[in-house]
Order: sequence, then structure tokens, then C-alpha cells
Amino acid sequence: FPFRLVHLNETSSTNSYLQALCIQQPVEELTTVITDFQTAGRGQRGNSWESQIGKNLLFSFVLFPKFLEARRQFLISQIISLAIKDELDIYTTDISIKWPNDIYWKEKKICGMLIENDLMGKLINQSIAGIGININQETFFSQAPNPVSLLQITQKEYDIFTILKNIMIRIQDYYTLLQQNQVELIANRYKESLFRKNGLHLYKDANGIFLARIVQVEPEGRLILEDEGLKKRDYMFKEVEYI
Ligand code: BTN
Repeated sequence: FPFRLVHLNETSSTNSYLQALCIQQPVEELTTVITDFQTAGRGQRGNSWESQIGKNLLFSFVLFPKFLEARRQFLISQIISLAIKDELDIYTTDISIKWPNDIYWKEKKICGMLIENDLMGKLINQSIAGIGININQETFFSQAPNPVSLLQITQKEYDIFTILKNIMIRIQDYYTLLQQNQVELIANRYKESLFRKNGLHLYKDANGIFLARIVQVEPEGRLILEDEGLKKRDYMFKEVEYI
């Protein structure tokens, strides 16, 4: 494994573990914490994250992107999403990035991420990214996030550490692009990879349901839609829902 790796049989949450580790001792960039089981796996919006023991990828890693302005912090989510999509594309088709922080297979969620940034004024001091990818799980108890695993898609089992290693190498490569300020390249690839990148689809905002197409996702994370009347609408996270 190319980076420092901490493997835990069980922990509350790899994000929380890595956060504590970074406070206790100097930690190198891309240090990764993986666990077989989380007792309090955390998801978006205070949700929990379900995963059977040893079946899936549950990991977190740390970046210190001190060169990146806080207002452009969504670029971190973009490079991680692209790295995961590139890897999953090897095993199946129909993988897409669902703005803002999910990876989908067709209409189902295969991966979620929770990125916790520590800001220092206008810059990002530390970014802890926690990723859950459903790999070998046969059935899910909760259907709430509409989950699917790689095993359910392909009827094959996978070696979790091989996939982790490949993803971390891809993340390092994209991170290098970010350090080189190749923002346009990242934005273009991201747009190409989006869930619902083509055509009109139903969305819902505070004013109701409407049909729109995706125009762009901005570096600060705003989703720009164009509705049927060709009017532009832009949204921050949680301001719009996919129907
Ligand atoms: C989501 O709700 O979609 C985000 C899920 C993120 C889950 C991962 S699993 C590893 C890491 N540790 C956590 O507690 N959460 C993230």
C-alpha cells in the first residue's frame, strides 16, 4: 500500500478515528484508515451508514490542501468522486456521479462520502474524506438510500484491499492535477460523469417540481440547472432534490 495504512477490526467511525489521530500526532497526507465494521458510521445529513462486517469498503483519508481556497472546497469532492468512478468503471458500466456527494449505478447508490474540512481563514487546513463503497454485501436491511453493491451488480466477489489501493492511487493522481490547478480539466471530466448529464429530468425546489437539464457544477459546488422555459436556476446543497 503506497501510504500509511491503519486497519481496525472495529471503530465508531473512520472519520472520527482519523480526526482524533490527526490531533494526537503528526500524520502524513493520504494516511488512510480502514475498518471492517463501524458502530456509528456517519452519513450525510446526520444519517447513519449501514455495512455488514468485512463486506464493504469503509475508509477515510486525510489531505492538507493548504493551497486551496475554502470557497473552492467542492473540488475535493469532485476529484474523489472521479477517482472512485474511474475505478468502478473497470468492474461495471452505468456508474455516474450524483451531485453533490454520491456515486450511483443506474438509479441506485453504490457509494457515499462524508468530507469534513477544517478551514483556516480563507484556506483549507485539513480535509478528512470518509468513503463507504458497497462491494460484497448481499442484502441491505434498510432500503432508505436505495443501496446496491458491486456483488449485486456483477454476481462476483471482490478483494476490498485491491480496490482500496487502486482508488487511493487514483486519488493521488487527481490530487496532483488539483495541485497543478487543472481545474477546468477536473470540471469537464466531472460534468461528463454526472448522473442525469443529458436531457430533461424532474427536480424539486422550495417552489415545487419542475423539469430541467444540468448546465454546470461550479467549483464551489453550485448546481446550475436550466428549466423548460430556458431560465437558469442555481442551487447549493440541499436546496434541490432529484425526483
Ligand atoms: C452518505 O450519507 O452518503 C455518506 C456516507 C459516508 C460513509 C463513510 S463510511 C467511512 C466513513 N466513516 C464514516 O463514519 N462515514 C464515512
